[in-house]
Amino acid sequence: MQLFEDLNLEVHRGESVAIIGPSGAGKSTLLSLLAGLDQPTAGMIRLADKNLAELDETDRARLRARSVSFVFQSFHLLPELSALDNVRLPLEIRGEANSEQQAQQWLSQVGLASRAGHLPGQLSGGEQQRVAIARAFATRPDILFADEPTGNLDSETGASIVDQLFSLNAQQHTTLILITHDSQLANRCSRRLQLRQGQLLEAHA
Ligand SMILES: Nc1ncnc2c1ncn2[C@@H]1O[C@H](COP(=O)(O)OP(=O)(O)OP(=O)(O)O)[C@@H](O)[C@H]1O
Ligand SMILES: [Mg+2]
Repeated sequence: MQLFEDLNLEVHRGESVAIIGPSGAGKSTLLSLLAGLDQPTAGMIRLADKNLAELDETDRARLRARSVSFVFQSFHLLPELSALDNVRLPLEIRGEANSEQQAQQWLSQVGLASRAGHLPGQLSGGEQQRVAIARAFATRPDILFADEPTGNLDSETGASIVDQLFSLNAQQHTTLILITHDSQLANRCSRRLQLRQGQLLEAHA
């Protein structure tokens, strides 16, 4: 069975796109495909002007490390690393100086300065989500993919994270591709698309 049918999407630099749709529609799967984390059985995906099918896994990983951040629906933090080290790791991989200070600063920005030394298992769901968001912000990506980034947050904390997403979008022209059930978040995006029965259609606010 095919999850997607005749699905076309073109996103330009600096756009913000909300993808909405019922549970099980394939939103998370679509996001993994777009980010080059998964490969489609048919069709073509270009990311940052590269046809992903023409790259081997090493080159796809390199492209992701250079240009992409991903906030997973289930966070995917490394359980044996502290909150600080989870945020720090992608900075280390990129060989950035002051990775510890930078990571600490990003944690503060999401309101978690006092949780830096905690392991993911010692954090609440919303706190883990914010660590994942800090990690995604830290590399100042060209494209940020986020799967329900405010799904575990109270409205005040969620609003602060949403503001930060859009300031990255405004200041660094970070392209945002977000899955969300949060209508406030969806309404701030420049486009809203609905995934339903394998197709992606423009949705109206
Ligand atoms: N690794 C997998 N192997 C087989 N089927 C999968 C796999 N991952 C997802 N699916 C199936 O693909 C469909 C789409 O799943 P996906 O996680 O993309 O949905 P979703 O739209 O993100 O849902 P939700 O809103 O609940 O997160 C589901 O029917 C799911 O069971
Ligand atoms: Mg999902």
